[in-house]
Amino acid sequence: MISQIAKQMLERPSSIREIMTLVAEYEKHPEKFPKPLIYLAGGWPQDPPPEVLRAKLREVVNDDKLWIKAARYSPTIGYPDLIELIPEYEYRVFGRRIYPQNVVFGLGSSAQTSAIFKLLLDPGDEIILTRPGYLNYTRQIDLELHSQVKIKYWPIIEDLEFRPSIDALNDMLTNKTKAVLVCSPGNPDGAVWNDSQLRAMHDLAEDHNFYVIIDAAYRAFIWNGDKKPLEREPLEREIWICSFSKEFRTPGWRASYVVVPEELKRPLDTIEQARTLAPVSLVQMIIIRLFSDAEALKELKRYYDSGARKYAEISREVTKELQSIEDIGVLNPQGGFYVFFDVSAYSNDDKKIWRDLIDKEQLALAPGSDFNGAKGWLRLSFAPVVETPQVLREGISRLKQYFSGLKARQ
Ligand SMILES: Cc1ncc(COP(=O)(O)O)c(C=O)c1O
Repeated sequence: MISQIAKQMLERPSSIREIMTLVAEYEKHPEKFPKPLIYLAGGWPQDPPPEVLRAKLREVVNDDKLWIKAARYSPTIGYPDLIELIPEYEYRVFGRRIYPQNVVFGLGSSAQTSAIFKLLLDPGDEIILTRPGYLNYTRQIDLELHSQVKIKYWPIIEDLEFRPSIDALNDMLTNKTKAVLVCSPGNPDGAVWNDSQLRAMHDLAEDHNFYVIIDAAYRAFIWNGDKKPLEREPLEREIWICSFSKEFRTPGWRASYVVVPEELKRPLDTIEQARTLAPVSLVQMIIIRLFSDAEALKELKRYYDSGARKYAEISREVTKELQSIEDIGVLNPQGGFYVFFDVSAYSNDDKKIWRDLIDKEQLALAPGSDFNGAKGWLRLSFAPVVETPQVLREGISRLKQYFSGLKARQ
């Protein structure tokens, strides 16, 4: 016997997580697949983490005192030293002033985002997400609030351009709206929100008493667009979610922090006491060593800068190749790991195309309708192939072959 909410989750599994089962099957039995599987579905960076992290890990494990401390529980919101040092990291690497009284360290941004939903929402409340938008938020809200929160989707793409209308957002607000959540650079859209868009949203938040949540998981991967929001102090009603998964290339470490208005810090702490108890101490010790070393921070910044150039280059190649496919509309990414493209000229049933690509071409992408209902779109993640462009090229060639087959049959 399982709960109603568990049944709902079972009915709507995450397609990206589901593809992992396929990948595992392929790794076990490659002979069952006509061609080697090309995986361009999830946003998992394959390039190695910065060497400086390994050096700091060694320092921790080679120091008897730190090694013992790293095995113990930390405070729920992270070690005080780390909370003090995160503003140093923000300032030296991104040029932004934040303050320790606003920082809560956590066990990955997924856990922290869920905690924030729990923190802000009551049954009957409303939250606004973007369309397209990251697929997990809806599931997280439903899980945390037993599907008793109304989720509204704000369209942000028009005529293949990123064009969020503040008037349209205004029309969606009610006195039950508790938060608007955006992701910048966006997953799956690669759009970077500019400062005037975020400020306009914040003006509405002040007038209507809600919070603006900004998921900045991909902030180290911006090659176009306005970086100012990352460099200025957070505004009064903003909540910034900052994950180390992508910028350190360590999604397996489960490390993140949020920057929240001061009045939310203690309630978040008490929620996390029940949900996660504490983040990983060993990871915190490594980050403390890293952030207290000015030279190491410089090295990290260089790693980010060269990483952003590398990701930009591959994103340009993918965009150009996709644009060359007849009747496909491509959203030009300004950052992040993804290219999102419109295949509705072929079919609005993106799930069918997605499934067909796996079955016929052994090419795994992600279906647009999973991203808050962007029907007729697909998402290609180039993060898994930044180190292996030849695999990407093979993937693109299969994609071209598939669509030219469809065209011939139209
Ligand atoms: C927009 C966005 N936010 C959050 C996450 C999850 O990050 P974390 O590893 O910090 O839980 C992802 C993962 O792909 C993501 O794309």
